[in-house]
Amino acid sequence: SNMGFGVLGVFLGLLLEVSTHGPHAVPRTSWRHLMEFSEPEIFNYSTLLLSEKRDALYVGAREAIFELSKKNVTVKNNKVQWTVAESPMVMCMQKGKSKERDCLNYIRVLQVVDDERLYVCGTHAFQPQCDYLNLADFSLDRRPEDGRGKCSFDPSQSFTTVMVDGELYSGTAYNFLGSEPIISRYSPSQSLLRTEYSTSWLNEPSFVFADVISEGGNQVDGEDDKIYYFFTEVSVEYEFFGKLLIPRVARVCKGDLGGQRTLQKKWTSFLKAKLVCSMPELNFVFNVVHDVFILKGADWRDTVIYGVFTSQWGNVGLSAVCAYNMTAVEEVFSKGKYMQKATVEQSHTKWVRYNGITPSPRPGACINNLMRRHNMSSSLNLPDKTLQFVKDHPLLEDPVLPIGNGPRLITKDVNYTQIVVERVRALDGNIYDVIFTGTDKGIMHKSVAYEGEVHIVEEIQLLKNSESIKNLLLSSEVSDKPYKESAVAQALEIVLLWPVSVLCCLCQYL
Ligand SMILES: *[C@@H]1O[C@H](CO)[C@@H](O)[C@H](O)[C@H]1NC(C)=O
Ligand SMILES: *[C@@H]1O[C@H](CO)[C@@H](O)[C@H](O)[C@H]1NC(C)=O
Ligand SMILES: *[C@@H]1O[C@H](CO)[C@@H](O)[C@H](O)[C@H]1NC(C)=O
Ligand SMILES: *[C@@H]1O[C@H](CO)[C@@H](O)[C@H](O)[C@H]1NC(C)=O
Ligand SMILES: *[C@@H]1O[C@H](CO)[C@@H](O)[C@H](O)[C@H]1NC(C)=O
Repeated sequence: SNMGFGVLGVFLGLLLEVSTHGPHAVPRTSWRHLMEFSEPEIFNYSTLLLSEKRDALYVGAREAIFELSKKNVTVKNNKVQWTVAESPMVMCMQKGKSKERDCLNYIRVLQVVDDERLYVCGTHAFQPQCDYLNLADFSLDRRPEDGRGKCSFDPSQSFTTVMVDGELYSGTAYNFLGSEPIISRYSPSQSLLRTEYSTSWLNEPSFVFADVISEGGNQVDGEDDKIYYFFTEVSVEYEFFGKLLIPRVARVCKGDLGGQRTLQKKWTSFLKAKLVCSMPELNFVFNVVHDVFILKGADWRDTVIYGVFTSQWGNVGLSAVCAYNMTAVEEVFSKGKYMQKATVEQSHTKWVRYNGITPSPRPGACINNLMRRHNMSSSLNLPDKTLQFVKDHPLLEDPVLPIGNGPRLITKDVNYTQIVVERVRALDGNIYDVIFTGTDKGIMHKSVAYEGEVHIVEEIQLLKNSESIKNLLLSSEVSDKPYKESAVAQALEIVLLWPVSVLCCLCQYL
């Protein structure tokens, strides 16, 4: 288990202090000294991968990959460079991109393949490439593969990726202009499986996060593991002057192989729904999701999804944390009603609930035992009617509602950018979720859910020059000396990154 014990004495002490000032008072800001890492001439330390087993923090930067010691990130154990050759650089510049900014190789994918290798992708002067990194000697294979659909072309475009059983799932753009969004799966043995290029599937998405939820293998209905994607996109279902943004959760099934005729090499299991984070009593909607953290339970049903949200109208100055029950998410995908495109007048389309008969098996469902008994052992055996339906109806009408029907936490005058959550057992035996949220001004809030309400117990200024916190990682492992001897034996550790130019820091708390 990854629970940190013995931490909570401190939290409760703080809580009492806070509650005398009212529930949402933010405590005085404190400072933390951070260990920092940077190298001259190396910028954009933006991709992090933590390996507890190897005591390593892998860092993907611009044209370089580092292996740092997790215990002390100022210690560099390895480095490899990956630059762009002359000819792709020239091509990039001919397409109007800048030599100093765009036509370089920003490392954006660092994923574990096995004990010996990482899979690494970079934007590579707007021609993304991937390669294997051998950990034994920290060298690249130097046999780069096409990175299209796996990594973004543009280093500043939103992007998410997760490796599941040796297959790389990405949410990115498939073209140079960044105008063709894609959710894809790359596996060395199969062709790329992807989303249909259609605004009904993805409409100008900003990808935030993706992860797998394992069903544990011994499910009674024999269903597959699922990969969930979180993003904000432009709504198709609401009438609005201008672009109305909508936070979404989408999911695909791990076993999906695409269709035989319809949806060939496309997902047959892609469905998406609206994530609701709002204050219904005030008619206020947080419609932009910035980051998601999945707090996994021993059983998938105990899993809680945390998200940080703001409103599209940034001047309101409110941020919210909403939490979602995995059971509720699953329910929407397995039972929710579909929406359908209806043409009103000429050329004007609107999405309305689909009230007709849905084909069987349920469109977008993962293959389960019941389907297998009907000789549908893979998505290749699904009937065209089911596939055509899901192709035209990827959007569900039923939204995913947050636990308690509203935000867990609402904070004024901050823009939350990142979230991680640690579940801790207190001395009283109860379990608490400790929420860490990073802001766009280099501040981190530590909050604890206590008696149904979330209280900010600490505000920490992490980044001196008030830059946005772009990366928060939680290390669940118990710290070594000197922390073992400290009053709080099992401290939480947070790894975070300074976005601009320089610093990668590990700060150890309490
Ligand atoms: C981290 O490593 C550096 C360089 O070896 C050393 O000077 C520093 O004291 C170490 N910091 C901690 C907290 O161990
Ligand atoms: C999620 O919902 C299910 C079913 O309503 C419930 O049994 C479970 O306790 C809930 N889990 C959490 C973490 O709220
Ligand atoms: C499944 O396939 C087997 C062998 O091809 C056949 O005997 C059986 O009738 C099929 N079952 C269904 C439900 O179609
Ligand atoms: C939050 O971000 C918005 C949009 O970027 C900005 O206008 C606003 O000033 C920020 N608010 C705070 C409190 O930093
Ligand atoms: C890379 O770093 C530079 C300077 O530190 C910054 O201006 C730029 O926005 C960063 N680029 C990306 C893609 O993060």
